[in-house]
Amino acid sequence: MSKPLKVAIAGLGNVGIGVVKILEEHKELIADRAGREIAISAVSARSKDQDRGVDLSPYQWVDNAAEMADLDDVDIVVELIGGEDGIAYELSKNSLKNGKALVTANKAMVAHHGALLADMAQDAGVVLRYEAAVAGGIPIIKSIGEGLAANKLSQVYGIMNGTTNYMLTHMESRGLTYDEILAEVQELGYLEADPALDLDGIDAAHKLAILSSVAFGTKTDFESVYIEGIRNIESVDIEYGKELGYRIKLLGITKYEDGNLSQRVHPVMIDRELPIASVMDGFNAIVVDGDYIDRTFYNGRGAGEGPTASAVVADLIDIARGHSGPAFFKPASKLIEAAPVSINRRKGAYYVRLHVEDHAGVIADITAALKHTNVSVETMLQKGTEKDGTVYVVIVTHETTEVAMKDAINRIKEVSSVIETPQSIRIEKL
Ligand SMILES: NC(=O)c1ccc[n+]([C@@H]2O[C@H](COP(=O)([O-])OP(=O)(O)OC[C@H]3O[C@@H](n4cnc5c(N)ncnc54)[C@H](OP(=O)(O)O)[C@@H]3O)[C@@H](O)[C@H]2O)c1
Repeated sequence: MSKPLKVAIAGLGNVGIGVVKILEEHKELIADRAGREIAISAVSARSKDQDRGVDLSPYQWVDNAAEMADLDDVDIVVELIGGEDGIAYELSKNSLKNGKALVTANKAMVAHHGALLADMAQDAGVVLRYEAAVAGGIPIIKSIGEGLAANKLSQVYGIMNGTTNYMLTHMESRGLTYDEILAEVQELGYLEADPALDLDGIDAAHKLAILSSVAFGTKTDFESVYIEGIRNIESVDIEYGKELGYRIKLLGITKYEDGNLSQRVHPVMIDRELPIASVMDGFNAIVVDGDYIDRTFYNGRGAGEGPTASAVVADLIDIARGHSGPAFFKPASKLIEAAPVSINRRKGAYYVRLHVEDHAGVIADITAALKHTNVSVETMLQKGTEKDGTVYVVIVTHETTEVAMKDAINRIKEVSSVIETPQSIRIEKL
């Protein structure tokens, strides 16, 4: 067997400790599969004295994680600190500059700086891998970049954030309100340190930006992802969606055609019979459409110590085996600068819920407001009277454009009996 591959692990939180555990517990199995031992030579975190449930004394402790890039007896730096900039980015750049391979789970950093890091890795002739950054337990980067490499891919979509999927699942199955389920996921520790990353769709958008590059060979462009989270989803929408045959999911959808890239993350109503509609709780699922494969569907745990660490170690094994292709599966210099497609160009149907005063003529007023727009109504339902004498009116539109829908919503808002900003959710035919 060749000499061991020496690894420095920066960050000993959930993922970092998971990686230490797998490398120790599966030492022989990994050596057999990798063709050489993968040995930890150094570790780093903020506080040295914290009990992390594993014995770290066999490994060199490095106080300043950024210095791991300078260690002589290290072949690969594993960055598991997090954050798009700061020490994680500094360490990553220094590692590549110093000719060390880099493995990271840092979706924020790869989404923001993927193209630059890929360039640096190519210039230095070293490997950059980030399987754990997207949907932990699902080997989606490898599946797209290697397994589907013969295809021209047109679309990738999926559930890319487990916490919000858990919330939507339990709002429906247990009839909880948004505030109730939010309190529960806070209590369970499912939310990111900055909850906005989950709730506002940013975490899912990081992953989507990475998947776009892997699937289409475009430069990572997080800035042009249209992002909407789940904060506005109410129990009534889940209930009415169900009556109409839909389920609400927070999806990331990326499409590429002729140099144009459309990337969006927002709640959607989808047919309850679709396989992805039955992906519940903290699970993730990704669908990939390509010309020779038609459609493939991947499902698994998106986060957590085990699945994420498993993906990190798979990257290490890959490198130990000598796999050395470019970060985004084509030379960094050939990554395409795609033209972003605005959400305003979306075409499709919409679910719209209006909260109105219950008196004669309301429906006629709403219909009149829609008359001079490019939105036509497929279904309009008036739901039972609330205690305060108000009612909900639910509209499902025919296919229209985002621009036309925004215009229609603005006109509906002007109707005097409409008492709240209308709720609108895109209906996605996938
Ligand atoms: N958790 C998941 O399920 C998951 C899934 C996919 C991807 N990821 C990504 O994996 C990465 C790590 O996530 P995590 O959940 O393991 O985070 P975490 O539990 O918060 O751990 C972060 C680690 O980084 C260390 N750290 C923070 N600042 C540091 C500094 N300045 N110098 C050295 N070490 C520093 C912390 O040290 P102390 O322990 O001493 O404070 C801690 O050990 C992130 O990029 C995250 O987005 C996580």
